[in-house]
Amino acid sequence: MSPWSPESWREREALQQPTYPDGEALHAALTELGRLPPLVTSWEIESLRERLAGVARGEAFLLQGGDCAESFDDCTPNSITSKLKILLQMSLVLVHGARKPVVRVGRIAGQYAKPRSSDLEVRDEKTLPSYRGDLVNRSPFTDDDRRPDPWLLVKGYERASLTLNFIRALADGGFADIRHPEYWDLEFAKHSELSTQYEAVVAQIRESLEFMEVIGGNDLAPSLRRVAFYTSHEALALAYETAQTRRVPNRDGFYNLSTHMPWIGMRTAQVEGAHVEFCRGISNPIGIKIGPAMDDAWLVELLDRVDPERVPGRVTLIHRMGAGQVESKLPGLISAVQNVGREVVWCCDPMHGNTETTQAGLKTRRFDLILEEIERSLDVHNASGTRLGGVHFEMTGEDVTECTGGARGLADADLSRAYRSRVDPRLNYEQALEMALRIATRLRAG
Ligand code: PEP
Ligand code: CO
Repeated sequence: MSPWSPESWREREALQQPTYPDGEALHAALTELGRLPPLVTSWEIESLRERLAGVARGEAFLLQGGDCAESFDDCTPNSITSKLKILLQMSLVLVHGARKPVVRVGRIAGQYAKPRSSDLEVRDEKTLPSYRGDLVNRSPFTDDDRRPDPWLLVKGYERASLTLNFIRALADGGFADIRHPEYWDLEFAKHSELSTQYEAVVAQIRESLEFMEVIGGNDLAPSLRRVAFYTSHEALALAYETAQTRRVPNRDGFYNLSTHMPWIGMRTAQVEGAHVEFCRGISNPIGIKIGPAMDDAWLVELLDRVDPERVPGRVTLIHRMGAGQVESKLPGLISAVQNVGREVVWCCDPMHGNTETTQAGLKTRRFDLILEEIERSLDVHNASGTRLGGVHFEMTGEDVTECTGGARGLADADLSRAYRSRVDPRLNYEQALEMALRIATRLRAG
């Protein structure tokens, strides 16, 4: 294996990268990015890796979620608090269901770059570069907006830092105090056959918290108010990732300090490709998305490449097969990993394999299929003697209408009311909470 450096990926084929017209500006922006302070620290990264090792051993459950693509405009107090709130609520419901601690990881504070099926987009005989996320260019279809602008890398770092600053303050203060009844908005549950069950779960959670408070008294109060929260994003825009990848004092190796847990997307998981080359050398825990096209040999090679030392908690395999394919595709991949004696975190992304387009041309996903992929994944893991260690959602804390189904029975025709995603459809607040309640019920049943 050739020696690794934060820049060694430049010798490899790098898919999904923008072509910056102005090399000097790119150089200047990356130099600026490289001298700014880190967004996260090596000790936080190590603590997440250790927690993920616990997930792999079955001692905890992983919840990863957030927007498909964050936008710079959404860096607002409401958007951030509502995302954090739904993630915390879901995690509590899952703690109750799984009877295990939940490791919370947002797709947040850096999820700004998107892979696209084509480099170019054509409209009315005009051809422009595709929109690749706010980190790269802007979405309006004009020459100016679509030209990749390297200063957006710096702006993205700044937006990530503003987001993270607020999250850290919230997670450290009373915001996460889920003992307040107004914290739980179960309006939607009235529409569901499961409403009594939901209310019972929430009542039980509240009761347990009160009980713990009585037992623990003042000693426990601070720990109920403070929660650990980690960040993740797809490590797609390699120049951005590289600029924040450094050595830190008193530790070996390099850390990508732009996020705790970068992941390799499905389109850029080639063993010899630039993204795998970059990720193999950083010390962070990493995710790898695996879709229906993944095969046994490819998966084993990937694991050998990114985790030769078999570091506990290093790799989370995020399978996204689709409800229709998970039973045919997943068992073989699980066996391949078992056969080489590796322990990984298995996590299900039930979103990306279940995307459809409505007659009106909107991308959507059905609540029932999303849940079905998780339930089938649980069955496959049970039958294989492995464990579904976590779930990965595209979701938001707001009342958007992007996915159909759920207790309110959103239909295709309702989607245009509040369809805001620029990329993939997300579960809204109610759908996300309901999803957690459904999974928790299932986890409890074993
Ligand atoms: C995503 O997570 O938004 C994504 C693009 O996923 P995948 O690489 O699995 O298609
Ligand atoms: Co997506």
